[in-house]
Amino acid sequence: MDIHQYLEQQRQRVDQFLEQSLPESLSDPEKLYDSMRYSLLAGGKRVRPILTIAAAQALGHDHDSMLPFAASLEFVHTYSLIHDDLPAMDDDDYRRGRLTNHKVYGDGMAILAGDALLTMAFELCSQDPGNHGLTASQQLQIVRELAYGSGHQGMVGGQVMDIQAENQEVELSHLQKIHSHKTGQLIRAAVRIGGIIGGASSTQLESLTGYAEDIGLAFQIADDVLNMVGTREELGKDAGTDEKRGKKTYPSFFGIDGARKLGEECVARAIHRLESFDQQTDPLRHIATYIIERRN
Ligand code: IPE
Ligand code: IPE
Ligand code: MG
Ligand code: MG
Repeated sequence: MDIHQYLEQQRQRVDQFLEQSLPESLSDPEKLYDSMRYSLLAGGKRVRPILTIAAAQALGHDHDSMLPFAASLEFVHTYSLIHDDLPAMDDDDYRRGRLTNHKVYGDGMAILAGDALLTMAFELCSQDPGNHGLTASQQLQIVRELAYGSGHQGMVGGQVMDIQAENQEVELSHLQKIHSHKTGQLIRAAVRIGGIIGGASSTQLESLTGYAEDIGLAFQIADDVLNMVGTREELGKDAGTDEKRGKKTYPSFFGIDGARKLGEECVARAIHRLESFDQQTDPLRHIATYIIERRN
């Protein structure tokens, strides 16, 4: 299969849904909606919602009724990026090829736009069950996955460890813990939510979870490598910032080639975990490889 064509098709599908879920005509408070739209519709890769879709497809489910659940991951992810870029955190000026949210709207509005995106993610997941054909128990499980992946045991917990580790000597095992939380947990939630939508058995969900944990780590290793070798034009955000802020990364432990190699090992492991799945799972397999080969 042509993975780039697949990713482009699914990205358009997700983008269309995101656009209509935050319509321009939402007027009051106008500034808040502008700020939310500014970051959400800035053109991210949409990897997390696409993972939800691909995991559901792996189990034979491919209906647009899953889009609100898939989109909820992008709402949480975008909020996490807005807050991650704030002066009190990574203090970055560029994101998704444009100035960061706080540079345009100010810190207060950026914080509130992030808050509103996070809250709206849960609104999307709690829509009327009549619309999507899931049982109440499946829907509840999805909400729980999203909360777990986003919160104190997930992304937020990882972000806390990340800022606490700045300019500190950290062990490799701790760096892995930071990565698996700040980036890995939301990716894990994305894949598991797709699995739940597709009606995965507990064994299938376990394999999908293992896959997600492996690609989650590979994803952040690739982000660390790109931070060293990429340019602002390629990445849509400034490069070289990890070293400047005293962040320990995989390349700081293993060098660029060593980090790349570890990323490849994670991806090989991830693909191996999908051994018992049929060819409907090919998108998930190819996404794993794409994650480490991407240029942005
Ligand atoms: C960047 O995420 C931040 C990390 C968690 C590594 P992405 O690389 O998915 O960024 P977008 O969504 O495409 O902008
Ligand atoms: C981002 O990690 C993780 C989030 C939860 C947003 P980084 O701070 O390493 O990602 P970039 O390089 O700013 O995208
Ligand atoms: Mg950060
Ligand atoms: Mg950052």
